Amino acid sequence: MSAAPRKLYMGTNTKMFKTPGEAREHIQLLRQLTQEIDPALLELFVIPSYTSLPAAVEAADGRIRIGAQNMGWEDRGQYTGEISPLMLEELGVRMVMIGHSERRHVLHETDLEEEKKVSCALRHGFQTLLCVGETQMQKEYGLTEETIAVQLKIALRTVTPQQAAERLWVAYEPVWAIGTAGVPASAEYAEKVHRAIRRVLCGLFGAETAARIPILYGGSVNPENAPELIVRGDIDGLFIGRSAWEADRFYSIIQTVLPLFQQKEGRTAV
Ligand code: PGA
Repeated sequence: MSAAPRKLYMGTNTKMFKTPGEAREHIQLLRQLTQEIDPALLELFVIPSYTSLPAAVEAADGRIRIGAQNMGWEDRGQYTGEISPLMLEELGVRMVMIGHSERRHVLHETDLEEEKKVSCALRHGFQTLLCVGETQMQKEYGLTEETIAVQLKIALRTVTPQQAAERLWVAYEPVWAIGTAGVPASAEYAEKVHRAIRRVLCGLFGAETAARIPILYGGSVNPENAPELIVRGDIDGLFIGRSAWEADRFYSIIQTVLPLFQQKEGRTAV
């Protein structure tokens, strides 16, 4: 499998936490802290609430990618409360997260809805971060790989290899690992599932394209477990909640994992 040179992916979803002013402050500080890092080595992104997006885009100043936490699957229509790709585009937002665990399990989104959203996002040229993950019960019943294969195969049904190679990212976020009640997955477990995700992507798009799709781990990532996760095979980045909501804490995780990732990729540490 010939993998293109890969960079480290590090991002945070701030869920329903930061006001526009708080998001601006967080992103401005993160931008200042990370300004010396070569963007060829690091893909840094923040996914704030809809109402924070204009402030976030301004504060990021093109240095940090800004994404939306969700998106409707039509350009316009009778969908009260939904936000369309055209609305995001006009704000300068070119990335969207689809199928976060809280959308699926708290707000009851289905795999078929994720399919429509992924298809719409890619049609509009958005960088699309698809989240997948099994529940505690699915894990206990030994259904992790099956569950993830179903989520991927449905959500990605209409996606072409070219779209996947250029604009698809996947985040593995076990439902049982996320949030204050979550228990982080061990690095060994996460690596095993990431390998299974890569196999499904290979089946869908072929080996060369699958190798180009970054797979990020998320779910209670913290300064202690980040280093052991990032050195594992097929873990291309970390998608962090709580531990990244203070810019200096997030920056210190980035500083720790970037050289480890570079070593893993066979490059000289930065
Ligand atoms: P957490 O959130 O790091 O706070 O567990 C992860 C996520 O929901 O993406």
